[in-house]
Amino acid sequence: AKKVGILTAGGDSPGLNAAIRGFGKTAVGHYHMELLGFRDGITGLVEDRHEPLDGRALAGILTIGGTILGTSREKVHKFTTPDGPVDMVPTVVENYEREGLDGLIMLGGGGTAKNAKRLVDAGLNVIHLPKTIDNDIAETDTTFGFATAMEIATDAIDRVHSTAHSHHRIILTEIMGHRAGWLTLGAGIAGGADIILIPEIPYTVESVARTIGERTRRGSSFSVVAVAEGARDVKDSADYEAARLLVKAAKTPEQQRAARAHLRNVEDTQREHTFTLARELEAATGLEARVTILGYVQRGGSPSAADRVLATRLGAAAADLVADGEFGVMVAAKGEEAVPVPLAKVSGKTKLVPPDHAWVQAARKVGTGLGD
Ligand code: F6P
Repeated sequence: AKKVGILTAGGDSPGLNAAIRGFGKTAVGHYHMELLGFRDGITGLVEDRHEPLDGRALAGILTIGGTILGTSREKVHKFTTPDGPVDMVPTVVENYEREGLDGLIMLGGGGTAKNAKRLVDAGLNVIHLPKTIDNDIAETDTTFGFATAMEIATDAIDRVHSTAHSHHRIILTEIMGHRAGWLTLGAGIAGGADIILIPEIPYTVESVARTIGERTRRGSSFSVVAVAEGARDVKDSADYEAARLLVKAAKTPEQQRAARAHLRNVEDTQREHTFTLARELEAATGLEARVTILGYVQRGGSPSAADRVLATRLGAAAADLVADGEFGVMVAAKGEEAVPVPLAKVSGKTKLVPPDHAWVQAARKVGTGLGD
């Protein structure tokens, strides 16, 4: 029988347990494989901490939030140690061989795809499953976690409407998504936000204030603004992109250190951008403005039906690939199909919202301000 390891890495996300179950029940129940669950993502892989995942361990987890295996944001080639970051790829290869593994299933987002690619390059049999609330993974229609997070953020936008219209306020709801605007755009459309601000379309305070002013003149003296955590005004966005380019262009270690320090500095000064925007909008419109940061509420709790179905079918498809001996791939959702895509096409890529995407066009048509 084949022996396979599985782990969850990066931020937790609804649907991880559903995917573990989808893979596990197919691998163990259908193909009679032996399954090991590594604890806490890359950390457990490096420290060789794992537990057997049998039928009993896989039962009753479909609806549970988070991950029964634990997770971390550790990187395999820069693993945190008291002496600084260490390349642990050789250690992981040793552990993999000592355990006699035939394959390793890694559930995670963009960072995990990079780790998976490094292990593939070191000769391991790896399959990646695309998990993230951010929906920013290349080559797949969507990722599990996204649909649930969009439901939660939509519900939040629905609810802040009560206070916004009762108190005649501007309420800015900050939504996660890292550098991508999918979650904010989707929840903003579904929740009927008056203005949606995403990283891919830098805003100007003037444009946002103008939209609010027009609403007030039409008799709606309140506004609900969905703000992506990565959204920036035109100037901050340019500063941030310039700082990122400097990091990419840096050649010597000194240049790299200086460029990274500069990027961190830019990020720090922009961290409270939603509060800054609230103050600017108060000054520009004369309305009271308040901020609600949704934070980890968006990633918590039971996955939606759509995410349970997606996680189950991608997990089951990964077990088929192990049985067929196909590795070095991410299992992508393409329509109703689960399609293996080489990790080389996924790793290091981020799927952002194209500024002319159909969702953006629909939002504009129904009169939503995009801040530009
Ligand atoms: O990738 C998921 C995500 O929730 C992003 O939307 C967010 O930027 C990030 O993780 C937050 O990371 P952490 O869990 O380390 O606070």
